[in-house]
Amino acid sequence: MLEPAGPQAQLILQLWHVIAWTCTGVFAAILGVLAWVLWRAPRSREGDTADMASAERPEPGPRRSVGAAVVVSVLLLLALVVASVFTDRALARMSLVDAVNIEITGHQWWWSARYVNGPADATFTTANEVHIPVGRPVLMTLKAEDVIHSLWVPRLAGKKDLIPGRTASLQLRADEPGVYQGRCAEFCGLEHAFMGLLVVADPPAQYEAWVAAQRQGAVEPAGAQAVRGRELFQTQSCALCHAVQGTSAGGQHGPDLTHVAGRRELAAGTLPNTPAHLAAWISDPQKHKPGTNMPATPLSQDDLSALVAYLGTLK
Ligand code: CUA
Repeated sequence: MLEPAGPQAQLILQLWHVIAWTCTGVFAAILGVLAWVLWRAPRSREGDTADMASAERPEPGPRRSVGAAVVVSVLLLLALVVASVFTDRALARMSLVDAVNIEITGHQWWWSARYVNGPADATFTTANEVHIPVGRPVLMTLKAEDVIHSLWVPRLAGKKDLIPGRTASLQLRADEPGVYQGRCAEFCGLEHAFMGLLVVADPPAQYEAWVAAQRQGAVEPAGAQAVRGRELFQTQSCALCHAVQGTSAGGQHGPDLTHVAGRRELAAGTLPNTPAHLAAWISDPQKHKPGTNMPATPLSQDDLSALVAYLGTLK
């Protein structure tokens, strides 16, 4: 969040500077006063009788100092509230003209993303990797399927909770191309720490090409091994939870795999997306992400290779 890549994160960083420097100043002032008081406090020597008179003596000086400190504290806190309110209003002012609309849903422990721009048949769904066009506003609609999650992409925007039964929204814009890490920022169970999201900001032409590719159904697998892999996908338990558009696999419990081979990571940022990691993930998900809802799929080495070959064609 110290290297903002868009206007929303920039505003939050400004507020962060105001709060951090104010608090640092107050902390330094308090330590300074404390050091000064300790330095000039009267020292007693061994054998001195205790001076109890100070308990009765009026202390107009310290009383005034404490009063002034209270007034300064209240004014500083008010100033921080005002700064927060102005930041909030500035965040809400970002133009949403020509915005990309994405519905993000939090699941234990992954993200689904539905792109709802254009006509209904142009809608498509992906998971754990969200592409956005550089320079165009994005309006994310946030929902949760099971428990409360929170979406945080520090270089692009502040945190926003995803609450079951409610809809929230998050506006952001990326002004530089790049791959931005996102995290779930609200404890949501065992694998909360492995609930990552990538936001990939593409130059506009590249983004349009990505969208056009995502709208297509899965490609026909070429080669006998991949064809057998598809058959395994549909006859084993895979298709009960995962959808591959253009095939009979229509499960909705897990990530949509229509274009899984085009993603950078597996299992919401748990593993890099390579054939070896994919095979390891399919054979024993609990080893890599204990508690995940994906069951292990016991397959012979040949079958596993065929399945991984098929998934590798889903670009
Ligand atoms: Cu989802 Cu933490």
